[in-house]
Amino acid sequence: MTYTSHFPADFQWGVATSAFQIEGAAYEDGKGPSIWDRFCENPNNIKDQSNGLIACDHYHRYQEDVDLMASLKLDTYRFSMAWPRVQALGKGAWNEAGFDFYDRLLDALAKKNIAAHLTLYHWDLPQALQDAGGWLSRDTTYRFADYAQEVARRFGNRVASIATHNEPWCTANLGHGNAQFAPGIADEKSAIQVSHHLLLSHGLAMSAMRAEHVSADLGIVLNQWTADAATASDADRAMAELEYARSVQWFMDPIFKGRYPELALRAHGDKAPIVHAGDMEVIHQAIDFLGVNYYFRAWCSAANPPIPAPALQGVTDMGWEIYPQGLTELLIALQAEYKLPPIYITENGMAAADQIVDGKVADTARIEYVRKHLDALSQAIDAGVDVRGYFLWSLLDNFEWNSGYSKRFGIVHVDYATQTRQLKDSAIWYRDFVTQQRARR
Ligand code: NOJ
Repeated sequence: MTYTSHFPADFQWGVATSAFQIEGAAYEDGKGPSIWDRFCENPNNIKDQSNGLIACDHYHRYQEDVDLMASLKLDTYRFSMAWPRVQALGKGAWNEAGFDFYDRLLDALAKKNIAAHLTLYHWDLPQALQDAGGWLSRDTTYRFADYAQEVARRFGNRVASIATHNEPWCTANLGHGNAQFAPGIADEKSAIQVSHHLLLSHGLAMSAMRAEHVSADLGIVLNQWTADAATASDADRAMAELEYARSVQWFMDPIFKGRYPELALRAHGDKAPIVHAGDMEVIHQAIDFLGVNYYFRAWCSAANPPIPAPALQGVTDMGWEIYPQGLTELLIALQAEYKLPPIYITENGMAAADQIVDGKVADTARIEYVRKHLDALSQAIDAGVDVRGYFLWSLLDNFEWNSGYSKRFGIVHVDYATQTRQLKDSAIWYRDFVTQQRARR
């Protein structure tokens, strides 16, 4: 099979996961509870009433999972560290047994020549910090900077990159705006204040890590989308403009321009965040890379009922519209508006109702999804956007937050009863694609 997309010779190919979604071992070796452990204790919060106690048991099976990546010829891996595993209470004593796990994981990756891309915060805040106010409290931002500095000191020369946050938009809006995610707060003003604290903690963590003079690239991972108006009406266009300002620009502008976007600030009115003198300077500092997670576009219709997205290329098992060209459009728009560092697509992939039939998982829809998004990505690169790597979400089927285990994003199927891993057709396809791209080198 030949492929249409062409990528730079040194382009990095990998998969992504996160700690809470795969590790399990929720209370082993001194790990403290996180807000997601607590959130799952209320069965109403998770679609299938499941939790992260065992997940993919990656804590015990990491070697098998690293071997899987090596067998797929991947040269990079993006994963996150569980803060409460390495510091049970989010302050005070470091948990050496927790750090040992990541030490073993990094060794296993190094043996297979797989570069490690570490994310510090993929949503599993130590519950003890939540009890003290969580991200609504400014104090948490200082605790986060301490944690970041310690991780940089220990691992900053062994990993290729460290991202401070993963998708802070989700922590703010789903965690604090509509209670879909931990810690389960539904209050818009809180969500907006939290978004500021997350950005501030990113800046503080950047400075703290810089002080360690590490070789790792330092940056942040943002979920992003283009916002398209359903019609050319003024109302739809205004809605799309505001949506983009409240999501993409809300996080990009402070980092790259040192201010919040005026349109969104005005819309927030008296819910605008409390910003201390000097905060914006802390947030506005150079980052070495920007991680972009792309899944779908935002579709904006002010009509009642709203006009649904056309979804001409279908929807995923999450109900998300498949819209690959949005990735090209997004990257070109970012390039036009900001002075960007190198970009990584730190997540992209789809959920499907995969089943093993006759010993195979024929996930052709996922192959199509990835292939089209890679085409879209190569178009952005051709247009001059500096993209260095692509991480498919995800290596394994895993705990999909409030959907529990009911949504499968993996290119490797996981039978949760036996923890058996089995390659889906998409995994083989991805291996062959990557191999062919490399053959051009
Ligand atoms: C983004 C998140 O970072 C990840 O944790 C999640 O599983 C995927 N999107 C799919 O929803």
